[in-house]
Amino acid sequence: MQTIRGFRDILPEHISLWQKVEKEAFALFESFGFKEIRIPVLEKTELFARSIGETTDIVEKEMYTFPDSKGNGLTLRPEATASIARSYIQHKMYAADPVRKFYMTGPMFRRERPQKGRYRQFYQIDVEVFGVESAYADVELIFLLNDLFKRLGLTGLSAHINSLGCPECRPAFQKALLDFLGERKDLLCENCARRIQKNPLRILDCKTASCQKALEGAPATINHLCPACDDHFTIVRTTLEKQGVEFIVDKSLVRGLDYYTRTAWEIKTTTLGAQSAVAGGGRYDGLVKELGGPATPAIGFAIGFDRLVEVMEQLEIESIKPTLDLFIVALGDQAMEKAYQWSCELNQQGVRTEVDFRGKSLKSLMKRANKLNANHVLIAGEDELNKNQLILRNMNTKDQTFIAIDNLVPELMTILKK
Ligand code: HAM
Repeated sequence: MQTIRGFRDILPEHISLWQKVEKEAFALFESFGFKEIRIPVLEKTELFARSIGETTDIVEKEMYTFPDSKGNGLTLRPEATASIARSYIQHKMYAADPVRKFYMTGPMFRRERPQKGRYRQFYQIDVEVFGVESAYADVELIFLLNDLFKRLGLTGLSAHINSLGCPECRPAFQKALLDFLGERKDLLCENCARRIQKNPLRILDCKTASCQKALEGAPATINHLCPACDDHFTIVRTTLEKQGVEFIVDKSLVRGLDYYTRTAWEIKTTTLGAQSAVAGGGRYDGLVKELGGPATPAIGFAIGFDRLVEVMEQLEIESIKPTLDLFIVALGDQAMEKAYQWSCELNQQGVRTEVDFRGKSLKSLMKRANKLNANHVLIAGEDELNKNQLILRNMNTKDQTFIAIDNLVPELMTILKK
């Protein structure tokens, strides 16, 4: 049996970079006041259709959707923002305190064509802020993301930012875009020709060569912002500049989801070929209301966890090497029984200890201790048990000492500085 296409196992030998990222990211988020939220993997299809948008690629062709036994449409989440907004509304979180800051990590599902950096089950680290309209919330998130990548040792990244306007300025922009595309309709791909009336902004995100050609010289959202959106974007840009966070204003950035308003951004890498976005986010001030909650501004981002780890591997960023404090070499039945008990006791005291119960020889057990990166090895053979003294070998210095069995655990704790 094999995994299905686009799905993969992440094996223990590859997990340490994932854990390093989680540790660093969660500590940083907690320090900025974010709280972890866990949301279901399966939701009603309608939630994603209404939030991500009926005419987006994700909803039109990439969702894993199936009916349950009653015929209700269910979908494996393709992203986390919609679910977190649903949760914010469902639990009336806004009533006690409208300002809520969340983070989560977990698998997402999109039926895209698999390739390096693109999977059908992939992982995101997602961050969302509800209830803050100020542009400082936007800057804070971009700063946070930038800082996290810096802490992880990432290089070769660039932040692309844009403003997509709001319901106030969007209609005038859409009209300008439709007017512009009027004479170029023949160049549009089949998909875009169909979407043009319903959702003209989607065309800006189309990667086909003919649509790209049609878009040459097209109007940009940032040239059609209303004064409030313009002020908002000015604060974002000037604050980032003051902080020394590098960015590129990218007029062509529109993102693949419909809920965005005002600031939108992507962090791109040069290391992953075509799949260059390692993270993406933006403001979505209309979504909570659209889903039936009170009008609430919101903003967030998601990191593509698989891609982030791939970039780190390419940059040869060190992961935390798993080590063991103590490996007990138990030779013979009597030693095995004792070793089992010591190991349980030591692990309870926080000493990472392992015993091999297969009854192997001293030579093969010493090899295993090396393989497990054990810092110390405790040798318990028949002879040592009879003499009431075990050998403790420091695997780094190769020094050996004797330890009396009677006081074994406390003495080991002192030596191993636990
Ligand atoms: P997104 O741009 O669709 O945004 O996804 C965020 C990141 O997830 C991408 O930049 C990419 O690194 C990663 N990603 C997306 N699809 C795949 C895939 N098939 N395989 C591997 N990685 C992938 C969102 O999902 C929004 N919910 C972000 C957000 C949060 N906006 C506001 N709050």
